[in-house]
Amino acid sequence: MSHIESVLHENRSFPPSSEFTAQANVSGIAAYQALTTKAATDYEGYWADLARQHISWETPFTRILDETNAPFYRWFDDGYLNVSYNCIDRHLPAKADKTALIFEADDGLVTRISYQQLHDRVCAFANALIAQGVTKGDRVVIYMPMSAEAVIAMQACARIGAIHSVVFGGFSAKSLHERIVDAQAKLVITADAGMRGGRATSLKSAVDEALTLGGTECISRVIVYQRTGQEVNWHESRDLWWHDSVADMPNTCEPARMNAEDPLFILYTSGSTGTPKGVQHSSAGYLLGAIVTMNMVFDAKADTDVFWCTADVGWITGHTYVTYGPLAMGMTQVIFEGVPTYPDAGRFWKMIQDHRVTTFYTAPTAIRSLIKLGGELPRQYDLSSLRLLGSVGEPINPEAWMWYHQEVGQSRCPIVDTWWQTETGSNMIAPLPGAVATKPGSCTLPIPGIIADVVDEHGASLPFGQGGYLVITRPFPSLLRTLWNNPERYKKSYFPEELGGKVYLAGDSAQRDTDGYYWIMGRIDDVLNVSGHRLGTMEIESALVSHPLVAEAAIVGKPHDIKGEAIVAFVVLKGERPQGAAAKEISDTLRNWVGQEIGAIAKPDEIRFGDNLPKTRSGKIMRRLLRALAKGETITQDVSTLENPAILDQLK
Ligand code: PRX
Repeated sequence: MSHIESVLHENRSFPPSSEFTAQANVSGIAAYQALTTKAATDYEGYWADLARQHISWETPFTRILDETNAPFYRWFDDGYLNVSYNCIDRHLPAKADKTALIFEADDGLVTRISYQQLHDRVCAFANALIAQGVTKGDRVVIYMPMSAEAVIAMQACARIGAIHSVVFGGFSAKSLHERIVDAQAKLVITADAGMRGGRATSLKSAVDEALTLGGTECISRVIVYQRTGQEVNWHESRDLWWHDSVADMPNTCEPARMNAEDPLFILYTSGSTGTPKGVQHSSAGYLLGAIVTMNMVFDAKADTDVFWCTADVGWITGHTYVTYGPLAMGMTQVIFEGVPTYPDAGRFWKMIQDHRVTTFYTAPTAIRSLIKLGGELPRQYDLSSLRLLGSVGEPINPEAWMWYHQEVGQSRCPIVDTWWQTETGSNMIAPLPGAVATKPGSCTLPIPGIIADVVDEHGASLPFGQGGYLVITRPFPSLLRTLWNNPERYKKSYFPEELGGKVYLAGDSAQRDTDGYYWIMGRIDDVLNVSGHRLGTMEIESALVSHPLVAEAAIVGKPHDIKGEAIVAFVVLKGERPQGAAAKEISDTLRNWVGQEIGAIAKPDEIRFGDNLPKTRSGKIMRRLLRALAKGETITQDVSTLENPAILDQLK
């Protein structure tokens, strides 16, 4: 744990205002403590009560948690439900005409969809999927821009029991291909293109390319939502327009009866080694995590809130806090197609004003870039509708936190800094805003029912003030169930034997302060967090070495003002080490190559060429030296085990 050196020294504390506390779903610290005490004394009863209270079951469960095959935990596993029913149908008697989605397109065009309309469109599309032969348990890959249709497609899968696997639209054809093959999907849903910042980026062409690569015979159909109307290549026997697919479809569709443990979706994410991992989530446990955190962390008020989570549905945040959470609550939410800086850096603030947004959830990287591009801009808009702000994806630095608090929240709105992961499905450590005082840069305390700890490499709990591995010691409902097709990797990655094989190892290091508040310090593995996006260094390295010019490559992160972390590549070419203009040209080529192999988000910010990489005599690349070099630090570390010390000068 040598990289854990210090933790932020932040003493400011912001207790909830009495106004906020008075109206909060969990009101006051005593209420928070009562919940945590209940969870501590009757863990299963605590979760079972919430599951009965918040989920509409088709067949109620009688069993709660089954740990007999740990770490393959099962929750509520004799219960039956349908997640789409819980997100839509159950609201219809009281709120058929209530707006479910306010979709704002890149160009500002606004479309409102009521719960009844959402129901009808989800059903019609669910019927279209059935007509294409999709049945319960089939995998459906969704590769779409931010749109109401993306949400409809996900909900339609949930309705018929198909397992969706959403692939972020920024990923390349190769990445898409890898995920299609691993999931052995039957069908792909895409769009001709997406619109962001006034520019169209085609998606259908990437699907076409992905399906020319091997192993995709599993795909029988591609459904294409027409967004821009641009020209696309058409494969008569395979491709089908979305509007044609639903043309004659009835707008009712009986929700499939799903077991609590049936998989709802797979979402691929980066690990430290190998190919992306297919994180598999359950139906009931996942839904429960979404609902409970909407209630406790986002203090959801179904009748008066307008909720806006800016995440793309290609990430877990977009799954839980766009597609499932707000709809399960019966709330109105905003969905945004575009980017925060188009047509100018006031876009978010204008949208909050126009739609009277009450709850705004975004990422530190967006906040930092908006500070840079117009720190005074929020003042030009009426942000008085806001009552709660959220942050997710990476640690938020105290400066950005203070700006968010003062300029956006007008010192009135609590900020919930939510720590969680693709694997945890919903918020794990986050303040309950009417109960827990916040501190800039800390995600504060675990939500009630989440039993977290900071431990050493043998699994022993560490005292406050000492950094170690962040773990969750009891299985919780929204935890991933396994990795698709790879239960062994699931066990190894998350439940290592060294820690006893039963506690969930998050992959982050953390420290608790004297109040027991958690401060996340970074990953303990070779995973980077670039603009809140998770990228494996190995993935980028494999992409680089697959280029014919490259002999060897090593990737490290270095701190970046806006992105949090920037990608630095150290590369050894097969030929001579390039210099000057040649180096620049090859850098550009390699950056574009990585863009094609993985996606633009993975392009190295900087490439340095050497005749070799710093290695130990046994041939191991010394990454800690590379990290120091990337940061521009002078090497003070011990280099006596280094085979080739002269190389360090070259890579500076
Ligand atoms: O390192 C932590 C960081 O993001 C990782 C999870 O990434 P992903 O699965 O892509 O999910 C991101 C959205 C939930 C974590 O292991 N992380 C996420 N939220 C925070 C955070 N680090 C610090 N503070 C946070 N609030």
